Amino acid sequence: MLRKLAAGNWKMNGLRANLAELAKLEEKHGDAGVDILICPPATLISACEDTPFDIGGQDCHMATSGAHTGDVSAEMLADAGASYVLTGHSERRTDHGETDAMVAAKSQAGYDAGLIAVICIGETLDEREAGTTLSVIDTQLAGSIPATADAENTVIAYEPVWAIGTGKVPTLEQIAEVHAHIRARLTERFSDGAEMRILYGGSVKGSNAAEIFSVPNVNGALVGGASLKAADFSPIITALEAASNF
Ligand code: PGA
Repeated sequence: MLRKLAAGNWKMNGLRANLAELAKLEEKHGDAGVDILICPPATLISACEDTPFDIGGQDCHMATSGAHTGDVSAEMLADAGASYVLTGHSERRTDHGETDAMVAAKSQAGYDAGLIAVICIGETLDEREAGTTLSVIDTQLAGSIPATADAENTVIAYEPVWAIGTGKVPTLEQIAEVHAHIRARLTERFSDGAEMRILYGGSVKGSNAAEIFSVPNVNGALVGGASLKAADFSPIITALEAASNF
């Protein structure tokens, strides 16, 4: 049985005042039956010290230290209190030109610092409409996951780019197809690939979480907008706790 994971990605949102949302979340889910991960902006990581939730960075540099103004290393995230790091989020791939090779190097830097990497992949709308989704996924999986990945240090997040922040969600059949495909590739390549957790991400809300969690090989969610407020994230966590397909 895979440990279910509800992950919140705050993106470039959140000031110290917003940590009150974590206190509210703790009241309801401080003792949740699923893993809960919050990825606040890097400026808030050390301020999350007292929450019972796992904390993650949203990106890291591939080097341990050095002349990289404005960047944050995996070791720094760990030192600030993080135990996870997101790598390869589509906004990083688009805004910062991150390639699969860079995502793999950043994930490896995360492992070296003792962090669990949540490696994000997903097709654009053009790729989906051109019928190339599964080949895009294959290329990203092959290029973004380090050879040293295992079920303990790695989580995969499937996030169709066209579903992120848009309110558009793939059909359950489309999610099932891609997650089954990812599972097959992971088990081909890694001896414990059957145990690697695969999250779905892209416009997950309280109102659609239960049906998404009923899809085989969906082991949790990576949630953007609906993770910012405890009132929005809480029903997603509750739906994940109730999910019984894995
Ligand atoms: P969203 O973002 O839930 O706001 O669509 C998901 C993500 O980018 O991780």
